[in-house]
Amino acid sequence: MKPSTTLPLYRNLRMTALLFALTVAVSSCYYDKEEELYPQIPGSECDTTNVSYAQFVAPLMASNCNGCHSEAAPSGNVVTSTYAGLKASVNSGQLRKAINHESGASAMPKGGNKLPACELLKIDAWIASGAPQH
Ligand code: HEC
Repeated sequence: MKPSTTLPLYRNLRMTALLFALTVAVSSCYYDKEEELYPQIPGSECDTTNVSYAQFVAPLMASNCNGCHSEAAPSGNVVTSTYAGLKASVNSGQLRKAINHESGASAMPKGGNKLPACELLKIDAWIASGAPQH
């Protein structure tokens, strides 16, 4: 057997083996990060079904709004501490505009950060369902 004919074949095998090893090495290092494959879509984990006035809206108003919109001292004549007061702002459309910082209303909460996206979506759903008092 002449070395000159066996050597290229041997080299070829060695190269194939090397490539195979590299492929295995590289693919075994590959992994998916869930948060990179599926970036969080704002609101995608937000449950907007059956939003309750008593369970959700009233407590939200109490912690973010009633300090300036109580019956006793209603800034801008807006009351958020009672259902009737809040419903009036729902009906005029000013509540939605104010908390979503849309034009045509003062941005609320005044001087504070916009409410979190999920809370805004829940308020939207509550308004869309007729702003019921349950
Ligand atoms: C620091 C006090 C303060 C806080 C907190 C606050 N507001 Fe107001 N709000 C005001 C004042 C003052 C006005 C009158 C308009 C103005 O001066 O901008 C007003 C006006 C409004 C209006 C009428 C807006 C318009 O232009 O017609 C709505 C609706 C409203 N607020 C809702 C809310 C809601 C809902 C929250 C809680 C998410 C809230 N506010 C938090 C002070 C506040």
